[in-house]
Amino acid sequence: MLPSISLNISNFHEYSNSILKQNGGTIIFEGPWLTNMKIVFTSNAMNVQHITSTKFENYGKGDDFKEIFEVLGDGIFRSDSHKWKYNRTLLHSVFKQVSFQTFIHKTFEAKVDSCLLVFLDHACKKGLQVDLQDVLQRLTFDNICSIVLGFDPICLSIDLPEIASEKAFNQLEDILLTRHIKPRFLWKLQKWLQIGDEKKFVENQKIIDHMVDTQIKCIRSRQSEIKSKINMQDKLQQFDLLTTIMNTEVEKKEQPNSIDDKFLRDTAINLLAAGRDTISSSLAWFFWLMATHPFVEAKILEEIKENLPSKESNWKELGKEGLSKLVYLHGALCETLRLYPPIPFEHKCAMKFDVLPSGHKIKSNTMIVYSLYSMGRVEEIWGEDCLEFKPERWISNKGGIIHVPSYKFIAFNAGPRSCLGKDISFTEMKMVVVAILLNYHIQLVEEHPIVPSLSVILHMKHGLKIMVKKRIV
Ligand code: HEM
Repeated sequence: MLPSISLNISNFHEYSNSILKQNGGTIIFEGPWLTNMKIVFTSNAMNVQHITSTKFENYGKGDDFKEIFEVLGDGIFRSDSHKWKYNRTLLHSVFKQVSFQTFIHKTFEAKVDSCLLVFLDHACKKGLQVDLQDVLQRLTFDNICSIVLGFDPICLSIDLPEIASEKAFNQLEDILLTRHIKPRFLWKLQKWLQIGDEKKFVENQKIIDHMVDTQIKCIRSRQSEIKSKINMQDKLQQFDLLTTIMNTEVEKKEQPNSIDDKFLRDTAINLLAAGRDTISSSLAWFFWLMATHPFVEAKILEEIKENLPSKESNWKELGKEGLSKLVYLHGALCETLRLYPPIPFEHKCAMKFDVLPSGHKIKSNTMIVYSLYSMGRVEEIWGEDCLEFKPERWISNKGGIIHVPSYKFIAFNAGPRSCLGKDISFTEMKMVVVAILLNYHIQLVEEHPIVPSLSVILHMKHGLKIMVKKRIV
């Protein structure tokens, strides 16, 4: 199998999708002799339900994942059992706080208004070619830093500055992918000798750690100032995630260790990773789909206008409630996430022997990878037209959204480890779509190739080159 995978590596998602299809949705990949490598690769929804929910306790992240993603520390993405449970309970209690949700809404609204629209206005006036994927990555990086750390690095401004922490994040992501492809002994040796990619890894990690540590210090000093002033009003005005975590009480019995600086650092890095590229990748694919499906774009625009309080209304006047009424837009976003899930693969590792619903026997310590990319293209789930972009498939006869169980619509994962940021993501994506579509028309630069990259996030390999024109309403 290795030679054929190497030959198709540039087209890996499509290649693996066709191999899975030919083999009934599950294949076993065995590495060369002596490598002891065995990976079960699946897009079978019953297997995924079994792994993520029915036998949840038997499938953890595993040692390989933990080794490759050591930068995530003991945060939610890299932890299992009681450490994961504690992280999950704590973050869940923060995410459901209304004050925190309002803070997220207001922060993002201000960012879209003062940075994204200002940038697009500038690009429009100057007739610039823009890489929309890069612009969206900058927007979501600024936003997630503001939300988690209470600090905006301002990557998105008209001169598109190079910000060390944002660049460091991009490079870390690329090196994490190479750790999946290189033989383990090789990257381990490079790490030990501190050469090549592994040297760069440490340098980039230091940049990010420095940014996070500085902010933790600021938050701690602000906290002690507040305590000394005993000023509850000030305290209530601090909503960034780390501050909120410090103020959130979780049952003591569930708390394995105190909320020290290491815990805050790990939580911050995990959330920066969770909230940055997932939203920007979804939006980049969405705007490409809009440009290639003008009929869908027109319907979305019509729906937005119908829900605005008046013809002259500004995009912000739609508010959270107005956004929730945009059913067709919601369907179009789900359809984008089905075909282009930002996280294209998930790893799991079996703790004990098990048999999958497809009949495959799983020994303990076997790695299982399920392809979120392929699951969105399974005919048995989505029908013969599964490769077509059709927001209508999400709309019921009564005009509501059709619920598809998460083990089939897998973009946000399924079971107890499903995404905690799903609702926030839909709200933020809708805000960007409404703000852009009401004000601008996006034109693709001709001949610019659009292909998915092979990365831990489903980016566009060559970005999304566009021109913006003011929309005449
Ligand atoms: C379109 C946007 C997003 C998509 C498609 C998405 C998708 C996912 C997926 C597939 C997972 C499972 C990862 C794994 O277990 O390895 C996950 C987990 C998670 N996501 Fe998201 N995500 C998105 C946005 C966000 C945002 C904005 C946040 C928060 C700021 C967030 C927070 C989390 C957290 C905390 C988990 C860990 C859940 C756990 O392990 O219990 N996500 N997400």
